[in-house]
Amino acid sequence: MRDFHVSNQEPHYILQAEGLYHVYESSALDGNVVALRGLHVKVRPGEAVAVVGPSGSGKSTLLKCLGGLMKPSAGDVSFQGLQINRLTGQDLVRLRQETVSFIFQDANLLPDLNALDNVAQPLRHRGVSVATSRRKAQSLLDKLGMGDRSNGMPAQLSGGEQQRVAIARALITNPKLILADEPTGALDPITSREVLSLFAKLHEEEDVAFLLVTHSREVASFADRSLELREGRFIAQHGNDVDIADLSSTRALIIDETGTLTLPPEILTQLGGPGRFDIDAEGDNLTISRADERDPDDDITPVNLTLAAECPACKHVYTDEAQECPSCGSSRPMVPA
Ligand SMILES: Nc1ncnc2c1ncn2[C@@H]1O[C@H](COP(=O)(O)OP(=O)(O)OP(=O)(O)O)[C@@H](O)[C@H]1O
Ligand SMILES: [Mg+2]
Repeated sequence: MRDFHVSNQEPHYILQAEGLYHVYESSALDGNVVALRGLHVKVRPGEAVAVVGPSGSGKSTLLKCLGGLMKPSAGDVSFQGLQINRLTGQDLVRLRQETVSFIFQDANLLPDLNALDNVAQPLRHRGVSVATSRRKAQSLLDKLGMGDRSNGMPAQLSGGEQQRVAIARALITNPKLILADEPTGALDPITSREVLSLFAKLHEEEDVAFLLVTHSREVASFADRSLELREGRFIAQHGNDVDIADLSSTRALIIDETGTLTLPPEILTQLGGPGRFDIDAEGDNLTISRADERDPDDDITPVNLTLAAECPACKHVYTDEAQECPSCGSSRPMVPA
């Protein structure tokens, strides 16, 4: 008998995340790293979404939190309306096996199994026979141009070959959602195109949903839309005409469910830097214009702000005037009084 907790998340999303925060705690001098700062993501069944953004912006952290490989410091993640952070070990494993596959930034193969058995392993884990698992594994390796390398051990395979084994392993369970971190990062352009056409086939013919982290123009344009991540926040969305080399040309800024708008640094610079702005909303249009000439000595603290009662990252409830969370070290935000 299953005891999955049905959340209040909408079940027509294959993947939904609300208010994701992640803090890497560190005792080093440079302190904790806040890698995700309140992210909201919704992916519909069969949709392909790319995540683009500079190195260190939090892409891999996001994918690990979404895939249930790492517990976010705060926030909820659901697959088809089932909240994974409420699931216990076995249920989580089962839900993940039945729904989602993960392709890591590094291939993460089992070093003691050859390519064929690495690919077959998720099916073996589900109790499928050796012969059937291996047959399906071989056919996937064939499709990925790895048919004659199926006896190779991971250490004997090149980076790109290992990545293709990892891709075959992710596909063997017929997942409904594939989370992939730089899936073509280690591949040459030709192999990369072959992998993408396999993804496109799954996307178009079998309605598989994708959330892919990428620096590649081709991978991003495979996606229906791309989300642009900067310093742990989604700042913009791009269509499938996304221009990775010049994101500003295809960018639509995002105002999330909490009403938060994060400006890309270059737009902020163009506006003359931080300061006070007048906002004028008319119909669907929002006009933002500088309220004052910028004065570098200007105190830009808005009126009526007070220290947050609760840490947004770890939910610690403050009992004093501390500026930093004693529990996770995040700086304490100001909120409207
Ligand atoms: N295990 C860790 N401990 C501490 N900090 C970490 C850890 N992993 C990542 N970080 C930090 O968290 C931030 C986000 O890292 P993440 O790996 O998610 O970035 P990324 O967008 O995937 O970058 P890349 O494009 O280089 O793969 C970075 O500042 C990184 O230094
Ligand atoms: Mg990464």
